Amino acid sequence: MGKNTTTTQQTVTPSLAVDLAGLKLSNPLMTASGTCGYGYEYGDFVDLSRLGAFVTKSITAEVRPGNEPSRIVETRAGMLNAIGLANVGLDAFMAEKLPPLQRMRQDGPRIIVNVAGHSIDDYVNTAGHIAADEDVDAIELNVSCPNVSDGLTFGTNPKLLKELVGLVRKAMRPACKLVVKLSPNVEDITATAAAAVEGGAQILSMINTYTAMTIDINKRRPRLANGTGGLSGPAIRPLAVYLVHRVYRCVARDAGVPIIGMGGVQYWQDAVEFLLAGASGLAVGTALFADPATPVTILEGLTEHLRQQGCKSVTELIGALELHTDPPAAPYP
Ligand SMILES: Cc1cc2nc3c(=O)[nH]c(=O)nc-3n(C[C@H](O)[C@H](O)[C@H](O)COP(=O)(O)O)c2cc1C
Repeated sequence: MGKNTTTTQQTVTPSLAVDLAGLKLSNPLMTASGTCGYGYEYGDFVDLSRLGAFVTKSITAEVRPGNEPSRIVETRAGMLNAIGLANVGLDAFMAEKLPPLQRMRQDGPRIIVNVAGHSIDDYVNTAGHIAADEDVDAIELNVSCPNVSDGLTFGTNPKLLKELVGLVRKAMRPACKLVVKLSPNVEDITATAAAAVEGGAQILSMINTYTAMTIDINKRRPRLANGTGGLSGPAIRPLAVYLVHRVYRCVARDAGVPIIGMGGVQYWQDAVEFLLAGASGLAVGTALFADPATPVTILEGLTEHLRQQGCKSVTELIGALELHTDPPAAPYP
C-alpha cells in the first residue's frame, strides 16, 4: 500500500460465541422445545446449521398421542397450547429421530434433548439413557409443563425438584450438561431456581408457558379441549424478561449458572433485552410458527447492534442491565 493511501477503519465482526457452563455454542440462538419438532422437518425452511443449538420436543419413556384437539389457539398477542407432550417415545426417538440430529450436529449446532416424565425413576431412566449418547450435548429437564396432569409436580416443589435434579445428574454421562427448565406458574421462581442449582443443574432455562384460558363465547366453552393451556409468544415477553432478571440477580449470577432465556423472543431487540437481563442463551418458540427463519434474522440484527455498540463479543451484554439495586426477595410485586 502506498504511503499516502488513506485506510478506512476496519470493522471487526463481533464474536457471537457463548459458553454455557462448558457447553460451547457458536451463537446464543436456539429453538424452544416443542416448537420445531425433531429438527429435520424444518430443514427446508431454515438453515439449521446457523443455530447455536437445537432443542427437541419433550421426550418421554412412553409414546404419547397428546391431548385431544383443539390443542392450539391463537390469542391477540400469542398462542395458547395444550399439546400434552405428544411425542414418539424414547425407543423411536433413539432409533429414528436422533440420527438426523447427529448429522445436523456435524454442521455446528449442539444438540439439547428435552425430557419429561411422571416419576423420579421415569426421569432418571429416560435422561440417563439419552445422555449416554455422545452426540447429546445436554438434557433439558421439563419439570414445567402446564398441559398434563402431573406436568408441574416437580417444577413447583423446591424440595422434590432438588431431589429429582440430583438423581438425574448422577444418572447422566458426566460430560453431558443438565439444563433445568423452570415454570413461571409458581409463587417465587427464585426458590425453584435455587433448588435446581443446589440439586446440580448446570444451566437454567426459563420460562415455560403460563397457565391460561380462552373461552368461545358462543359455545360458552373453553376454546381448548383441555380447558386450559400454556400461553406463549409476545404476550409473555416482559414477564419472562422480569423473571430472568430476578433469577439472574438473586440466584444464577452468584452461582455461576448460565440462563437460557425465552418467552416471546421475536426480534433482535427482544434478544438484547433478555441478554441484558442476564440470559446467556436465547430460545425462540412461538415466533417460529410465523417465520422459521426468525433465529437467523435475529442473529443478523444482533450482530449489527453489537457492532454499533462497539462490543467485541455478545458476552459483553449478558447481565449488563444498569440497575443499582437488586430485586427484592419474595414476596414481590
Ligand atoms: C406448541 C408448543 C409446544 C411446546 N412444547 C413444549 C415441550 O414439549 N416441552 C417444553 O419444555 N416446552 C414446550 N413448549 C414451551 C416452549 O418451549 C417455550 O418455553 C415457551 O413457548 C415460551 O417461548 P416462546 O414464547 O418463544 O414460545 C411448547 C410451546 C409451544 C408454543
